[in-house]
Amino acid sequence: MAGRLDGKVALVTGASSGIGEATAIALAAEGAAVAIAARRTDRLEALRAKLDEQGTSVVVLELDVTDEQACRSAVQSTVDELGGLDLLVNNAGVMLLGAIEGADTTDWTRMIETNVLGLMFMTHASLPHLLERSGHVIQVSSTAGRVAAKGAGVYNASKFAVNAFSESLRQEVTQRGVRVTLIEPGVVETELRDHITDQAAKESISARAADMRQLQSGDIAAAIVYAATQPDHVAVNEILVRPTDQGW
Ligand SMILES: NC(=O)c1ccc[n+]([C@@H]2O[C@H](COP(=O)([O-])OP(=O)(O)OC[C@H]3O[C@@H](n4cnc5c(N)ncnc54)[C@H](OP(=O)(O)O)[C@@H]3O)[C@@H](O)[C@H]2O)c1
Repeated sequence: MAGRLDGKVALVTGASSGIGEATAIALAAEGAAVAIAARRTDRLEALRAKLDEQGTSVVVLELDVTDEQACRSAVQSTVDELGGLDLLVNNAGVMLLGAIEGADTTDWTRMIETNVLGLMFMTHASLPHLLERSGHVIQVSSTAGRVAAKGAGVYNASKFAVNAFSESLRQEVTQRGVRVTLIEPGVVETELRDHITDQAAKESISARAADMRQLQSGDIAAAIVYAATQPDHVAVNEILVRPTDQGW
């Protein structure tokens, strides 16, 4: 059966788990060839094996998005091995929640370097290729990019930055055929919060999440596929998706 993304090439960062992994699977199910990028290549190889079974063309890219040169190489390898680039999904991210007072500022550096600079480096490296093929950039931001909250200051700042950068990018490239989409999930059940180093913050977000029917990664992948499969003249610029039970 023909897929809605037959002939398209997508590069997904943070494809080794959670939303990125589900997105790679969903884009492949629509016929896209996929470049899957992250630091944990063992997880990417397991995903490749799954995608191979359904006949998807896959490239595995070991990538730390905080390294600008590695971002350039990942984009170039995608173009060289899959013939071009139509869709960049900037999904790699970390959410190291905690109070500002007394914070371990290495958490701040990691969040800004990964969520903001990494996404910017990937966008910058991809843009010439996307402009060639009326491509699409999908940024996985967050409700945290729309509403700031106590205990999330630097994560909020990182996702607000993603939103500002993306709107500026949209104005720069949309009339040259490149679409820009922000995806803003609420609470999704992934390993994201397992990496929080501040124990109080980790317990607090885990308790709040346990209290609701959380979104699943596939719910967000479906929103990404929706944006990616519209006709060329339709630019879905923003999708905000919360769990029904999330009152904040
Ligand atoms: N889960 C939620 O509730 C939620 C809500 C709103 C927004 N989001 C956003 O959704 C995105 C995906 O998160 P998730 O929930 O799916 O969490 P996740 O399962 O922890 O996935 C995060 C992904 O980012 C990758 N990553 C982290 N640092 C990286 C780096 N320096 N270079 C390359 N890849 C890196 C990780 O891969 P490696 O460790 O293998 O590199 C992993 O594949 C993030 O941007 C997050 O902010 C999540």
